[in-house]
Amino acid sequence: MQTTITFILDDKIISIDFGNSSKLTPTTTVLNYLRSLPAHKGVKEGCAEGDCGACTVVIAELIKNRLRYLAVDSCLVFLPMIHGKQLITVENLKINSEHLHPVQQAMVDTDGSQCGFCTPGFIMSMFALYKNHTNPTRAQIDDALTGNLCRCTGYRPIIEAAAKSCIKNGMDHFTRDESRIIELLKSIPEESVHIETDRQRYYHPASISEALELKSKYPDADVINGATDAALRVTKKHALLETVIDLSGVTDLLYIDESDTAFTIGAGISLTGLMPRIKNDFGALYSILEVFGSQQIRNFATLSGNLATASPIGDTLPVLIAYGASVVLESTRGKREIPVEQFITGYRETAKESDELITAVILPKPAEGEIFRSYKISKRKDLDISTISSGFKLVPGNDEKVESIILAYGGMAEKIKRADTVEQFLTGKEWNRITVEEAMQYIDDDFNPISDVRGGAEMRRVAAKNLLLKFWVETASIEVV
Ligand SMILES: Cc1cc2nc3c(=O)[nH]c(=O)nc-3n(C[C@H](O)[C@H](O)[C@H](O)COP(=O)(O)OP(=O)(O)OC[C@H]3O[C@@H](n4cnc5c(N)ncnc54)[C@H](O)[C@@H]3O)c2cc1C
Ligand code: FES
Ligand code: FES
Repeated sequence: MQTTITFILDDKIISIDFGNSSKLTPTTTVLNYLRSLPAHKGVKEGCAEGDCGACTVVIAELIKNRLRYLAVDSCLVFLPMIHGKQLITVENLKINSEHLHPVQQAMVDTDGSQCGFCTPGFIMSMFALYKNHTNPTRAQIDDALTGNLCRCTGYRPIIEAAAKSCIKNGMDHFTRDESRIIELLKSIPEESVHIETDRQRYYHPASISEALELKSKYPDADVINGATDAALRVTKKHALLETVIDLSGVTDLLYIDESDTAFTIGAGISLTGLMPRIKNDFGALYSILEVFGSQQIRNFATLSGNLATASPIGDTLPVLIAYGASVVLESTRGKREIPVEQFITGYRETAKESDELITAVILPKPAEGEIFRSYKISKRKDLDISTISSGFKLVPGNDEKVESIILAYGGMAEKIKRADTVEQFLTGKEWNRITVEEAMQYIDDDFNPISDVRGGAEMRRVAAKNLLLKFWVETASIEVV
């Protein structure tokens, strides 16, 4: 057990001992840590909630003897989460005092910066794009920059800078240094970190058994995974998290197993790690993840975190219900599996006992002929909270009839909920426009939505009905088995 964290910054090993530090706590964000250093003030705080990207940094982590570069919002990352990783800031990018990194030079050449407040964040997102893609498509550039806002330059020159610079297979001075950085990272022991200060206990276990022991000992502890939701309690509500169990160092949770019938997704897998693996088999989950937050958020956020929030607008929940997914809950007492629909019991309430952790999510593979869709309605296409989200499943039967149907909605009630009456009405009926239009009326029996800043109750009712119609329009032409 160690009480310090160790990571790489400015090509050097840095250790922080929270016991001896007067200013830093285990829930100090990487943003605030960097801002406290004289040589790292390039990183900016705009919103402190993951929305503006001004605080973007890149974390390089060692995966199978290679470095993976991830853009993250440093305002949402607690310091112990970078234990054993390399932290790269905008100050590290220039090649030498005369030569900028290609992404920086391109930004200068295209006049991509005016006041400059957003620029370090854009540069770091662009740097991650540079390391991960060569000749990115416009869609890939847009996706990489979705999490960064600029209020004065306009996006055209910034996008142009990304397109012009990301052409060198990611080769740069970081590539030359990679083997040295890998050796340095390997020299950091993969041990559990246990930090205790006067006001806080922060556990960063290295194994699932240890995490379960901790949860059993401290059932009221705040569990964090990607912290993209949990960190806001610190940055926006200024809460003191007294006991934290941080799962981000539990390597046993970083797996995706595929069998003939299902995918089992370890609770530590980030949404970015998940997306390429499920793209073919779970297209409706993939498409909702394409509009989930931004890359900075998806690089750390997890499915298990989204489920555990039990938010009525958690985007993956309706589609997970449609797929018949289940949650694996573990404690020192044992292990159980529970369908997502039963896991969510109320407004931000779940069936999880206080000593349990989510250790995996199981996604059964769709059977031949089953049709899935997901839809998200929000004020903006990208990086926005859902007004309504939905996950639908249709099992077509004989004679163009509906054998069975699942219509799960978010944003329509205090929790994610299925349209039971509509489903019952449609089952056994022909999947045609007349029946679907009739079925749409029963949405009023199933839901009594509220009005809030994102949308009025009437708008929600109409939109929910129209999503059903959209589902029919998109699937009616699919040949019924
Ligand atoms: C800018 C921004 C954009 C966002 N966009 C979206 C969006 O488009 N759609 C959407 O649905 N959400 C969005 N979110 C919310 C958040 O990113 C998601 O809910 C995410 O999936 C949370 O995952 P996480 O691993 O970061 O969870 P954390 O923040 O680490 O944890 C969230 C909650 O889950 C619990 N928890 C996490 N893992 C476990 C586990 N293994 N066992 C038990 N409990 C656990 C924690 O205790 C905590 O209560 C956004 C958030 C931000 C800041
Ligand atoms: S400060 Fe806005 S995303 Fe971090
Ligand atoms: S250059 Fe001013 S906010 Fe982007």
